[in-house]
Amino acid sequence: MKISVIGTGYVGLVSGVCYADAGNEVVCVDKVQEKIEMLNSGVVPIYEPGLKELIDKNMELGRLKFTTGIEQSVKDSDIIIIAVGTPSLPDGRANLDFVKNVANEIGVSINGYKIIVTKSTVPVGTNEIVESIISAQTDVVFDVASVPEFLREGSAIQDTLNSNRVVIGTNSKYAADVLSELHKPFTRNILVTDIRSSEMIKYASNAFLATKISFINEIANICEKVGADVTQVALGMGYDHRIGNSFLNPGIGYGGSCFPKDTQALIQIAGQMNYDFKLLKSVVEVNNDQRFNVLTKLKLILNDLENKTVGIWGLAFKPNTDDVRDTPAYEIIKSILDCGGKVKAYDPLAIENFKKTFRLSHNIIYCDTAKDVALDSDALCILTEWEEFSLINPTTIQKWLKRPNLIDGRNIYNEVQLYGTDLTYYSVGRPSLNKGVKDKSPVLFV
Ligand code: UDX
Repeated sequence: MKISVIGTGYVGLVSGVCYADAGNEVVCVDKVQEKIEMLNSGVVPIYEPGLKELIDKNMELGRLKFTTGIEQSVKDSDIIIIAVGTPSLPDGRANLDFVKNVANEIGVSINGYKIIVTKSTVPVGTNEIVESIISAQTDVVFDVASVPEFLREGSAIQDTLNSNRVVIGTNSKYAADVLSELHKPFTRNILVTDIRSSEMIKYASNAFLATKISFINEIANICEKVGADVTQVALGMGYDHRIGNSFLNPGIGYGGSCFPKDTQALIQIAGQMNYDFKLLKSVVEVNNDQRFNVLTKLKLILNDLENKTVGIWGLAFKPNTDDVRDTPAYEIIKSILDCGGKVKAYDPLAIENFKKTFRLSHNIIYCDTAKDVALDSDALCILTEWEEFSLINPTTIQKWLKRPNLIDGRNIYNEVQLYGTDLTYYSVGRPSLNKGVKDKSPVLFV
């Protein structure tokens, strides 16, 4: 099949490359000339394991091309996929300007029957807007479909090539058949729905996963008070297949390009229909509060942060990505600086993006290694669970630090690794592992 993918962000680039790898002729389109030049010269603008290799392979085979010429690629394609960004507006609604502009350009260029697919995460009803924008420009017959994307950064290629499901929302039997054929190599579970349900599935899925994270974070906070271990609790819960054992890792709250944006957007979508989505509002509130637990623990250990040096391991919102969008690390670092502390920070991949994205005071130093961060710090906070960090022995960390204080915001260490150290250690929801802290043991009710 001949496919145009419009927008070469995470979703567009990864899905375009995977469609090419399945044997289709794919043209990825972006209006940013610089990006297209980079891609044509073999430079990949985002970090994603396996992506560069797959791009090189499919370019060499002549199945994958990059261009700024939307008009020609629309004319040459059977399927046109819209994968542009839908950033948040100040009130949390999704900004549909990019989607609408692309629909307009498709309407101007369309020269025969095409299937227009929206992969961008869009509010319910957007595919109908896309349809009407194109129809206003042309008499050519076309179909629209919503095919939401569920890939995770860091494992985006695998998530696409081995999807747990593909959802196709369309009113056209022909489009449903063609798109089912296109996605057959990627999954055994293809669900064909109406358009509005498909648009809703994406938001509902992300909102549910965000709910799971906020739920386990609140359970972790209660575990700290009652003296239970959240790891054991999550394990015990997860054996029940109705609950499942994934997405029950407590930490410093979710970040990234999807959960914060999509939860806000769904709250707004509901609000526009006069529905108060109370549960999801709480999920967001819990998530915002969770990151400040690190500050509370720091203050408990150091009393006053004024002129204290706090080391930070991890700036990306999760490991295996250089993405810092809505990363909890930003709020945590900002709050340490606001309290008069100094920060030394390291991340294996995300330092440049972090520097570019956030303006912070002069009291932050970016280091070249994890060791440089720990050396002479009054406390060390682990904010992203990079494998590189978990391979460093806590005894070594203790030797590096000026004062032996470790806050493990991602629970990367266990009891065995901590054995024999004199670290004052705080993790999330595991009071039995706390060592050297001055607060009293929890008093259980009698
Ligand atoms: C997510 C969805 O998983 C994906 O299906 C959707 O298409 C886009 O949004 P992504 O943002 O790449 O993907 O990352 P994910 O691995 O889902 O993690 C999101 C955030 O939740 C991270 O900040 C992560 O640290 C946090 N998280 C995840 C937890 O705190 N605990 C968990 O148990 C799982």
